[in-house]
Amino acid sequence: MKSKLETILIVDYGSQYTQLIARRIRELEVFCLVYPFNKITKKILNEIKPSAFILSGGPRSVLDKNAPKLNQEILKMKKPVLAICYGMQLVTKNLKGVVKRSTHREYGHTIINIKKKSLLFKGINKRKIKVWMSHGDNINKIPKLFSITSLSNNKIISSIENNKNKIYCLQFHPEVYHTDFGSKIINNFILNIVNIKNKFKIQKFIENKVSELKNEIKNKKIICGLSGGVDSTVTAYLLSKAVNKNLYCIFVDHGLLRKNEANEVSKIFSKKFGKNFTKINASNIFLKNLKNVSDPEKKRKIIGKTFIEVFDKAAKKISNVDYLGQGTLYPDIIESIPFFGGPTAKIKSHHNVGGLPKKMKLKIVEPLRELFKDEVRNVGRQLKIDKHLLLRHPFPGPGLAIRIPGVIDKKKILILQEADHIFIEYLKEKNLYNKIWQAFVVLLPVKSVGVMGDERTYNYSVSLRAITSVDGMTADFYMFTNNQLKEISSRIINNVKGINRVLYDFTSKPPGTIEWE
Ligand code: XMP
Repeated sequence: MKSKLETILIVDYGSQYTQLIARRIRELEVFCLVYPFNKITKKILNEIKPSAFILSGGPRSVLDKNAPKLNQEILKMKKPVLAICYGMQLVTKNLKGVVKRSTHREYGHTIINIKKKSLLFKGINKRKIKVWMSHGDNINKIPKLFSITSLSNNKIISSIENNKNKIYCLQFHPEVYHTDFGSKIINNFILNIVNIKNKFKIQKFIENKVSELKNEIKNKKIICGLSGGVDSTVTAYLLSKAVNKNLYCIFVDHGLLRKNEANEVSKIFSKKFGKNFTKINASNIFLKNLKNVSDPEKKRKIIGKTFIEVFDKAAKKISNVDYLGQGTLYPDIIESIPFFGGPTAKIKSHHNVGGLPKKMKLKIVEPLRELFKDEVRNVGRQLKIDKHLLLRHPFPGPGLAIRIPGVIDKKKILILQEADHIFIEYLKEKNLYNKIWQAFVVLLPVKSVGVMGDERTYNYSVSLRAITSVDGMTADFYMFTNNQLKEISSRIINNVKGINRVLYDFTSKPPGTIEWE
């Protein structure tokens, strides 16, 4: 990935927090890239020309025989380095300090005592701060020309530095929210030590991207699949700015969207893209293919395959297409790079259009592949995309199919759409919608006995799901008040025929996932 911007290169040693480091830096409007340690080459370093390096933490021990190594080119570049946890131990070992297995493992909240003035701690007016630790090894002897700047309450070295050569090492994780002054420490490194001047401005990004896309696509045709979600919508608007009438958008309505969603979305898109916009109502085909299927993975696979077939058929009607636009984001790129030779465990197969390019022999264009979700929303704002589309909660590709455990039919979809609509409207009415990262209703395959008026009922149960999260990777359930739960429950039961019981899902992620399937 080329870049003319001042770039911070984050070298990833497999830490679960690496993406958080990148987000922290992007929050400062500074451009950064994440590269796995084993993909760094002299050529890549020459291309990127990093202004500084951040070495991440990692699950291994530098004392292990096959532990990930520090690429010597990094230190040779004589750029500022911030080394975190595993990164700190790697730098220490390389510069002839000593790392030992700890007799006292530090994990979680730990108090450190700042012992020495440091540019990294500038503006922190406390001597003792609470930080997040996660390490089994520790520094036994620091390298020459380094000094200790803080020690933990357990008398373990928690930060060292060589101020002259601008190498700063932290045993704790400043990128984690649980570390007091963590953002301040990262700000100090990026803005005071590296002294980045050329910031990553979204307006500039749009200008550059549009001219890049114009140069690449020229007067060829490009198609783009729209789902109504933020990523594909922003991709299409950006492409349209670059190639205008050569962009063709296809919206496949699989019949598993939220109430009124298909109509709302197509109204906006037909206004924007005119006759270059095609909506395909494929709900019957999807329902037919999903008939009697209850296994979650099978459902996902069937939906993915049917989507490709329907999209392919529609795309064939547009002649001489060369390109396919996709809404891939930077986290997708980072996550798709296998670590330590093997992909991470698959929890669910995600529905996307991954199979399309091979089948259609198209060149892929991914204009958002360097961006995080919040930056994509920012691009969307600049492109004046309807706020309603930009701020909508995430919605999974397979739609309501994975919110109806068990077999799916038209009647169940209609019941779920109604209940979900009532829940979401309630959240909007009470100004809760934007405080919650994602909320929806799940229709359970359980009928239970109830009583309404004088009558016995035997109807479906639903579960409410509402979570807070930063990126969907981890999540906490949202805590409604008693009254709020009471009101949501009675609105659903009173207004949706077919439901007589409302449950609340008190599960965080992990151990649960956000969706039920
Ligand atoms: P889970 O259930 O894995 O969901 O905790 C994390 C986030 O991803 C969304 N999700 C999907 N998004 N295609 C998508 O585009 C999918 O197949 C898919 N499955 C889950 C989910 O809604 C949540 O925001």
